[in-house]
Amino acid sequence: MLAFASALKTRFAANYSIAALMDTDAGKMRGFARKAGITVPMYTDFDRMCDEISPDLILVGTADVFHADYIIRALDRKIAVVSEKPLCINFEQCRAILDAKQRNPEVFAVTSHNSRYRPVARTVKKMLEQGVIGRVISAEYRETLDRVHGKSYFRRWNSRRKFSNGLELHKSSHHFDKLNYLLNSYAVEVTASGVLLNYGANAPHSYEGKNCHSCQHRDVCPDFFQFDAELFNSEIYAPDQCIWSPEIDIEDNFSAGIRFANGVYVNYSLCAAADYEGEVIQLQGESGRLEAVQLAFSNRQDDLHSIQAVPLENIRIYRCGSAQPEDFPVEHVGLGFHGGADYTLFTDLFSENPPPSLPTLEDGILAVSTGAAAVQSIRTGKKVLIPEDILRMAGKHRFRTDAE
Ligand SMILES: NC(=O)c1ccc[n+]([C@@H]2O[C@H](COP(=O)([O-])OP(=O)(O)OC[C@H]3O[C@@H](n4cnc5c(N)ncnc54)[C@H](O)[C@@H]3O)[C@@H](O)[C@H]2O)c1
Repeated sequence: MLAFASALKTRFAANYSIAALMDTDAGKMRGFARKAGITVPMYTDFDRMCDEISPDLILVGTADVFHADYIIRALDRKIAVVSEKPLCINFEQCRAILDAKQRNPEVFAVTSHNSRYRPVARTVKKMLEQGVIGRVISAEYRETLDRVHGKSYFRRWNSRRKFSNGLELHKSSHHFDKLNYLLNSYAVEVTASGVLLNYGANAPHSYEGKNCHSCQHRDVCPDFFQFDAELFNSEIYAPDQCIWSPEIDIEDNFSAGIRFANGVYVNYSLCAAADYEGEVIQLQGESGRLEAVQLAFSNRQDDLHSIQAVPLENIRIYRCGSAQPEDFPVEHVGLGFHGGADYTLFTDLFSENPPPSLPTLEDGILAVSTGAAAVQSIRTGKKVLIPEDILRMAGKHRFRTDAE
């Protein structure tokens, strides 16, 4: 949300201004306002804010489980809405959002999936459209969060299933959206398996606590973490929960076999305790194998969303019968957070005529559906079909026709 606030205050100030903030945590809200350098009315009640401010656009950036409620309330008030990813966290919320969208089809609603805006992803999309490897048949997508970034999810609300439904939604929905975008399709069937190996009840020592700032082991624990108390100026929540809490109930490693409506089969995996950060995507086409690497390295002990991380990006094509891979340059458009992805996403989002590449509400639903199916498959040990009614309401069906 700080990235949104900063862009709205600068690049888009001619057409937009932040009219108000709403957050159930008044202390955090004050901290956010100070950090973002904005002085606006602040509310802890959504309806009151809408009644008094009459906003033209709502940006939803709460903990994931609450997105659906605010999206639906915005749609029913005919207010344009942009939601952070994941759009929501389970199939029930997908249905409720799609119902609200059907009641209010004219209301502008998008999901801020910035990962498809990464320079590597945009370059690969262009290459696929140009037919550089022909039709894609299968793919591998390997996502790794380094130990610094990975750990950050286990210190916060994200590590409790009731708030996030796991990294399958919170993190991987970005990648599922990117796969849908690159493959020009959507998942119809998911088989997944996952475990918690590096955090929670897996501590390499005998102690655990509640929060670092109040922990009796703070002087000896190698994972002591000092959070930003200026931003989290809160009396009810601190993002320094113990990463060794047995209450952590999400996976830090999972893999999923995903079948797409257009027949493409994808192997996806996520590891949240790796030695480097980033992703490797391999697309097997009819006439070549494209390998896209987007990694980041940092010696800082903070989040790799930092623009100070050192990027390693390359795109290569391998062709059967040729010992020489072909290198393709990655096209960069803007600088800033997420490898310039926020810059280009915001350009599309806040332009007068938003382009079709903007991830819609339905795109958000399709990404969530893949993640929710992965969670269900891990829990049941069974293959999960994306529910037909959700596909239909999102304007899709199980088998895509050539006309699509
Ligand atoms: N697109 C991206 O790359 C990206 C990056 C970071 C975070 N995010 C998304 O942004 C959202 C916020 O993440 P964060 O890391 O900033 O979390 P955060 O904990 O810093 O902020 C969440 C805020 O929501 C507030 N909140 C909690 N419950 C609420 C409720 N019921 N009503 C209103 N407000 C409520 C909290 O008080 C807090 O201020 C998440 O959905 C996350 O997935 C997206």
